[in-house]
Amino acid sequence: MIALTVSQVCEATSGVAHHLVATELVTDVRIDSRDISEGCLFVAIKGEHADGHDFAADVIAAGAMAVLSARELDQPCIVVDDPVLALGRLAHWVRTRLLTCTVIGVTGSSGKTSTKELIGGILSADGPTVCPQGSLNTEVGVPLTILQADASTKYLVLEMGMRGAGQIRYLTEIAEPSVGVIINVGTAHVELLGSREAIARAKGEIVEGLPGHGFAIVNGDDPLVLAKADNTKANVIRFGRGVECEVRATDVRVDSAARPSFTLHHGEASVAVTLKVHGEHFVENALAAAAVALSLGINIDVVAAELRIAGLDSKWRMEVRELGNHITLINDCYNANPESMRAALAATASMAAGRRSWAILGEMRELGESSHIEHESLGRAAAQMGIDRLICIGDALTATHEAALAAGLKSVAVTSIDEAVSIVTTEAITGDVIVVKASRGIALERAADALSAWNGGVA
Ligand SMILES: Nc1ncnc2c1ncn2[C@@H]1O[C@H](COP(=O)(O)OP(=O)(O)O)[C@@H](O)[C@H]1O
Ligand SMILES: [Mg+2]
Repeated sequence: MIALTVSQVCEATSGVAHHLVATELVTDVRIDSRDISEGCLFVAIKGEHADGHDFAADVIAAGAMAVLSARELDQPCIVVDDPVLALGRLAHWVRTRLLTCTVIGVTGSSGKTSTKELIGGILSADGPTVCPQGSLNTEVGVPLTILQADASTKYLVLEMGMRGAGQIRYLTEIAEPSVGVIINVGTAHVELLGSREAIARAKGEIVEGLPGHGFAIVNGDDPLVLAKADNTKANVIRFGRGVECEVRATDVRVDSAARPSFTLHHGEASVAVTLKVHGEHFVENALAAAAVALSLGINIDVVAAELRIAGLDSKWRMEVRELGNHITLINDCYNANPESMRAALAATASMAAGRRSWAILGEMRELGESSHIEHESLGRAAAQMGIDRLICIGDALTATHEAALAAGLKSVAVTSIDEAVSIVTTEAITGDVIVVKASRGIALERAADALSAWNGGVA
């Protein structure tokens, strides 16, 4: 972060300082009272369970230099109307006055974090890049990411999450990206927005504010995403498999570990790429990342070389682990929606090829009225893709279980993670491939952890 004086923070946030000297320096910004660094500004956020203001004395004792607060405190503080909005104003002030880097914003229903990491990997080869691990895609996470950049930063890669109309616009107004990426539009958050079209519109906000010299990177294979390209002044770059896409993949294949290979095309140039990550859906993410880098003038050979070595730093996304007895565990429990469920099942089935496959699945949340239909169709999809054993955890998956049984798949419905684990640990045999996946709120990493500890029955 670029160190800021108290008076700069006050100017940027329209805040008023108390018990502080105007020239004192803020060298970091933190939001978690248990994670304070010397000289940091602590943003007092009022959450569901706790109010950051209650920890003012603790954070100052721990070394924070001031609290960004909604009211005057006995401790050093900068008082603002709303600390979260003020954090956004601070990030915007820094972005527009002190940073010279190229800012890239990434949104989509599935694959934002993965794509962001692929972009970060490629751009790091060309210069200092800020691209933090994890999601950090909210009205808090995006400003915090911006504040991590400094004068030497060449690229700043931001994940932008969408939980309602106007939210991406808010984030783009803070970050002012010159490159905006829409990976795909699925049904995640349909509960909040009502339809895929409404979701596409909300995600489309990322390209609306782009400058004329910027790039709108859109999925050319998804008509809903492509339509958003009409709402931008920026240069539109389509990625996908269609012939009209500027950045295109042909000859897409997956190997026995579900690692995709393809030929990457850009203009007259083409180059072979094999990814280290698992699942054909990563082709989409890799193309989006390649399109960003190619638009920014990075050579296609550099792009391909970085894609070939890119792993994933963020946890629980198609993490493949070999257990004892040649049993393979695919931990994709970070989150789930209908598209990412299918992607994970397809990867599991293709990795299994000849071995037995298990899917331990939990609820896909936030699907609103379409929840029942989506869970039902998940059961049919699992059967069609050739999954051998299905374990459905929780009420929402009753529909999945019944549809799977009707389609001839051996399925069991259970009420707890423990039951699911116990079935697998008793019935799995040498060579099985097991995938674990549900929405974040289900915390299905407990199943993945238990299976890792079990280690295929090998001590
Ligand atoms: N392009 C994609 N299409 C479908 N599913 C995907 C795609 N990219 C990633 N996924 C899956 O979606 C889940 C979340 O991935 P992540 O990269 O964390 O996305 P996000 O940040 O959008 O939540 C993981 O299960 C991952 O395997
Ligand atoms: Mg994410």
